[in-house]
Amino acid sequence: MRIAHLSDPHINLKYHPQHLPRLRRVLEDALKRGADHIVISGDLTSNADHRDLRTTRRLFEMLGIMSPSKLTIVPGNHDIYGGPHLADDILAFPEHCRTCNTQEQLAVFQENFAELFSDSITIGGLPYPFLKRLKHVAFMGINSIAEHSLTGNPVGSNGEITKSERKIVTQLGNNHAWQTAQFRIVVMHHHLFGRKDLVRMGAPAARGLASMIEHRTLKLHGKRRILRVFEEAGADLVLHGHVHFTGQYERNGLACLNGAGAVYPARREDGFSYHMIDLGVRTPNISVIHVSKTKRESTIELLDSNTPVMVAA
Ligand SMILES: [Fe+2]
Repeated sequence: MRIAHLSDPHINLKYHPQHLPRLRRVLEDALKRGADHIVISGDLTSNADHRDLRTTRRLFEMLGIMSPSKLTIVPGNHDIYGGPHLADDILAFPEHCRTCNTQEQLAVFQENFAELFSDSITIGGLPYPFLKRLKHVAFMGINSIAEHSLTGNPVGSNGEITKSERKIVTQLGNNHAWQTAQFRIVVMHHHLFGRKDLVRMGAPAARGLASMIEHRTLKLHGKRRILRVFEEAGADLVLHGHVHFTGQYERNGLACLNGAGAVYPARREDGFSYHMIDLGVRTPNISVIHVSKTKRESTIELLDSNTPVMVAA
């Protein structure tokens, strides 16, 4: 099975109209290269706007991927809280996050893409975490968006997987569909990397005050506990987004791919890149596809054996 992974397309017809044709181009490229399944790990929209959600859905329908066997998605913080787009918005945004009805926003997201979740195994009637099995591959989808908190999540961008959600991960990890899969993939929005990984990946780094703010507002709380739960569940690979670059790293032996540079990279010169994961053989093959900014073409970069990302067979 060939899986294309990308993240954070931030569809926003009002302020980022260029993102829609870019997403279409990346998806068309992936389908042309034989992707059987596509994973988009959150921030499908930039402002949690209903019109943008419907437009994104229409694009999926047009490309014939609006089905659970073709597409797996999870929400990102922008799909729930939205984001500031103008200077005035920045001042008002913390108050917007404080009063945001996250459950209602999540319900709108789920409703808009309802068919994609129709095959999912869930527990207690909750949409997340969910389990989905496609041939020899199992996916566990997690909603890593944290509730607002003045100190822990002032602008909605920090992540969390609560104790009860971690318990569901463990329960789904004991499910036959997960246990008997040859490859077990976790999909979530927030990242598991630390600062050292960022340096090694050559990711765009913020400096000084910007770095401090970023460190406080772009993180996943309780990473160590989360990693332990994934490890106990026997996960092979984590696909995520959130920080806008394409990169690969490993945490506690768990391979992780950040796919958020496909449509809206932090540095435009990094170009538009997404992952292609080939699980047709016993040892998986992961490559990075670079989509040309100007021409309708793409190039492929195979990750060499020094890359510390290798899914357990
Ligand atoms: Fe994002």
